[in-house]
Amino acid sequence: MSKHIIPHSYQIAKEDRLNANKHTSFLLWFTGLSGSGKSTIANVVEQKLFEKGIKTYSLDGDNIRKGINKDLSFSPEDRTENIRRIAEVANLMIDAGLVVLAAFVSPYKKDRENIKSIVKDVNFVEIYINTSLDECERRDVKGLYKKARAGEIKNMTGISAPYEAPEHPDVEIKTEHESIEAAAQRIVDYITPKLSVNNE
Ligand code: ADX
Repeated sequence: MSKHIIPHSYQIAKEDRLNANKHTSFLLWFTGLSGSGKSTIANVVEQKLFEKGIKTYSLDGDNIRKGINKDLSFSPEDRTENIRRIAEVANLMIDAGLVVLAAFVSPYKKDRENIKSIVKDVNFVEIYINTSLDECERRDVKGLYKKARAGEIKNMTGISAPYEAPEHPDVEIKTEHESIEAAAQRIVDYITPKLSVNNE
């Protein structure tokens, strides 16, 4: 099938879009347990980037699992497919010139490795939101841990399904020891040199 798909050559290339935007495009990938603070921190990072005039877009369970991935469960296979599709969507957004912020549990190392192969290493920044299971369970913002302990939710990451922590994340945030504001600022400081078009 795919050998009959011949890409069209467009007049406007990614490079043109980056030059027009005056910044590069890449993917900020937030991984961590449910309730660790991924989306909260990603949101503050996005606000800070927006204030600097950076074009961004955020992907998380709310817009992805209710739409493009609404057919997927939390089985290991479906989580792999969830992450693969998100990486492909992010890849298009990178081509469109955006800084993409993606907040997903993404518990499997091999799935996170696969993101890198889809968007390319240089476009991937891995941010590990390291909040202990005890703390996530104490917060239990969505009440899911309680349900998982009661056996009402299967395959709950941290309880009945694994979380494989990143060994060498680009940035690690320990939310029990650092404020949201400080964490977001540290991430912005880390990526600021990467935003410069001249570094490409
Ligand atoms: S992932 O593992 O496939 O990356 P994803 O980030 O899309 O997960 O979705 C995780 C969110 O779905 C959690 O924050 C939580 O709100 C909800 N959720 C529902 N069931 C589960 C489960 N079994 N394990 C983890 N999260 C779940």
